[in-house]
Amino acid sequence: MAKDKSIFTCTECGGTSARWMGKCPSCNAWNTLIEGSSEPAAGKNRFGSVHASLAPTSEVLPLAQIEAADFERHPTGIDELDRVLGGGMVEGGVVLIGGDPGIGKSTLLLQAVDALQRSGMPTLYVTGEESGAQVAMRSRRLGLPDSQVPVLPEIQLEKILHTLQSRQPGIAIIDSIQTVYSDQLTSAPGSVAQVRECAAHLTRTAKSTGTTIVLVGHVTKEGALAGPRVLEHMVDTVLYFEGDTHSNFRLIRAIKNRFGAVNEIGVFAMTEKGLKGVSNPSAIFLSQHAEPVPGSCVMVTLEGTRPLLVEIQALVDSGGPSPRRLSVGLDRDRLAMLLAVLHRHAGVACMDQDVFVNAVGGVRISEPAADLAVMLAITSSLRGKALPKGFIAFGEVGLAGEVRPAPRGQDRLKEAAKLGFKVAVVPKANAPKKNDKAFEGLTIYPVDRIEEAMQVVRGLD
Ligand code: TYD
Ligand code: MG
Repeated sequence: MAKDKSIFTCTECGGTSARWMGKCPSCNAWNTLIEGSSEPAAGKNRFGSVHASLAPTSEVLPLAQIEAADFERHPTGIDELDRVLGGGMVEGGVVLIGGDPGIGKSTLLLQAVDALQRSGMPTLYVTGEESGAQVAMRSRRLGLPDSQVPVLPEIQLEKILHTLQSRQPGIAIIDSIQTVYSDQLTSAPGSVAQVRECAAHLTRTAKSTGTTIVLVGHVTKEGALAGPRVLEHMVDTVLYFEGDTHSNFRLIRAIKNRFGAVNEIGVFAMTEKGLKGVSNPSAIFLSQHAEPVPGSCVMVTLEGTRPLLVEIQALVDSGGPSPRRLSVGLDRDRLAMLLAVLHRHAGVACMDQDVFVNAVGGVRISEPAADLAVMLAITSSLRGKALPKGFIAFGEVGLAGEVRPAPRGQDRLKEAAKLGFKVAVVPKANAPKKNDKAFEGLTIYPVDRIEEAMQVVRGLD
């Protein structure tokens, strides 16, 4: 409880308030007021700790005189993880790994940190969610009973920082950041203020000691616990796990990376012995129909540098007075837009119908190149007529009904041809100009407009 004459300071804007409030009166941010003055005590920062700041010597220099040091990278040896990291863990870098509970964050990190420990790097695994015994059980399950990874079951920030300072590991895993709390703050563990402050302290330690720090964050539904999103701005790399916990495949996507490309993905399969990289993932998101079914259209999406074939499914069914539009793995607003384009430019009306669309396997597709496949799947479901066997489509569809090219269209087509697809409906600008062996077996129909695409499909019935 608040003591007399205590003051509350906002962690976001530094504004103060005489009493605790849910919302900061200065910047309107929620849950950011913490007890304590914003004035730092002499020699210490406002939470009483004495860690080195980000830039101990703040000399002003022209860019040309600043040495551009290359990052020291340490590959984990897990190829799919190194790919999303941009080549490995970076010294002093802070990585945030988010994902639903049970998706495999702890499993992957234990595998990675064990490999680094074996390569001679001192490591530290801080576990706040599970006991040391539980982590040991996981390592046995992963076939690593002789693992030398030092485990620290601890949730108090100051003790964790102390261990980091004294052991100076090359890499430390904090599993999870939501369990870590600081005594200096009065707010509850897991609250936005706690999670943010603890992450900020850990980030500073990473920068000042050169230790790579990996923060594990659970994605939470809006609630008492702060999700990893509140930390995205303060870390160097943000990775998210995607995928259906019911299927064996897991995707890791880089959302932000100061040391590499974003939107690169790593693909894994969850096995009895942990996560195994899938080096050739292009066909894993296709559901296996013996014969084509109505409402299904395969597209080639380009995730990072690798093309991936994903099946888009649609179900159109007569709805009530206010029909529903639901999408899983695709943008719902975009679905509403595509339905309007379908109606206006191709004469396909779904006004009184419920429309559901789904990207198979728990993948999330954010690129507009999915548009054409979504529209063809919807039309196919509405007509109750399956698209031909071995059919693929991709391309962005604009509000005027035009079909726009997708980036690196030919690479997508090559992948489809390689996997034995037979018919492709693609934007005109993506169609190959000359005969190339790489497209052999694939009949390509270039289209300029959505009505044209519909005509091609009807012609194939
Ligand atoms: P876990 O890494 O504990 O998930 P998170 O840290 O993201 O919450 O993984 C949990 C799931 O993975 C659990 O349901 C069991 C399964 N699993 C396997 O299938 N094989 C394995 O070798 C391991 C260690 C876990
Ligand atoms: Mg875990």
